[in-house]
Amino acid sequence: MGRVLLFRKAILSVTGSRLVKGFVTTYGMRLGAGRFVAAESLENTVDKVKELNARGLAVTLDYLGESVDSREMAAEAAEVVLQTLDAIHAHRLDANVSVKLTQLGLLLDEGYCIELMDRIVGRARELGNFIRIDMEDSSVTEVTLQIYERLRERHGGEHVGVVIQSYLYRTARDRKRLEKLDANLRIVKGAYSEPADIAFPDKRQVDKQYIALAEEHMRSGCYTAIATHDRKIIERLKKVKRTHSGKPVRCEYQMLYGIAEDLQDELLKDGYKVRVYTPFGEQWYAYFTRRIAERPANLFFVMRGMLGR
Ligand code: FDA
Repeated sequence: MGRVLLFRKAILSVTGSRLVKGFVTTYGMRLGAGRFVAAESLENTVDKVKELNARGLAVTLDYLGESVDSREMAAEAAEVVLQTLDAIHAHRLDANVSVKLTQLGLLLDEGYCIELMDRIVGRARELGNFIRIDMEDSSVTEVTLQIYERLRERHGGEHVGVVIQSYLYRTARDRKRLEKLDANLRIVKGAYSEPADIAFPDKRQVDKQYIALAEEHMRSGCYTAIATHDRKIIERLKKVKRTHSGKPVRCEYQMLYGIAEDLQDELLKDGYKVRVYTPFGEQWYAYFTRRIAERPANLFFVMRGMLGR
């Protein structure tokens, strides 16, 4: 197993401990979470989105949270997502919304989760907006794709999209299945700790499959959101300009809030559409630890925060 994957496994296992979680959430944004999370309230997040829009960046807003314990928590999360769609409309922001199905009760009651998603995608359709369903760990990959398929049957493909992860062996097949629906896909490498019998243990293979998936989806004519900070991959995909039938490709680049801002600006300058995944809310712990697990250097931000600098 590569060093990067070992580091990820180690960090995700340490941060899973209750003690570490208690410490980090108590010292909150001071530990450096503010670098990756826009704000805790929707109101302050709207101001951050205005700043990003003023720089020319589109946004996808993510109300933080996952794997809720009760229907009430799922309903509360759905309510915030609906309020977020309304705020985007009221403030005329260039933004859509990303959601996690486990935050909307997928693991408690699938039917209820679908009901909530139906309301959310319905509201996005009314407002001319778009919902991206984030992809979580491999235990929910299949059900996430099925719910996506169901929602687009009901609301059409213009208002809902999903994510595929290049580290999973199954993803090439999934992409083909989704191409038949002309699915709007965000392509990512994958952020969870997965075993070698279902995910590539070697990062080079993850990167290779990423390029193959993105190139094929772009050439097929489907809308593709290239979500990575990997400069080499971006340079390679910039060369893909035409679909198999000779039309211009339809794509955008996506990056996480607070990461690779120089690369975001370069792409903007070259005329590409760039969207920043902007998380907000109080439940930032799991998201924050995944960002640390991806990159050892991010630990320095945490340590600087601990030292109060
Ligand atoms: P890689 O990890 O190879 O990094 C390439 C370079 O990017 C690094 O060398 C470094 O310079 C920079 N970099 C990467 N991560 C960094 C970090 N945390 N801090 C600072 N620099 C960093 N995953 C998932 O499983 N489901 C999902 O729905 C999503 N959604 C999503 C949306 C968007 C817009 C993005 C950009 C990413 C996701 N992800 C995700 C996360 C994704 O799976 C992946 O973990 C991260 O994007 C990191 O991988 P890179 O593609 O950037 O490459």
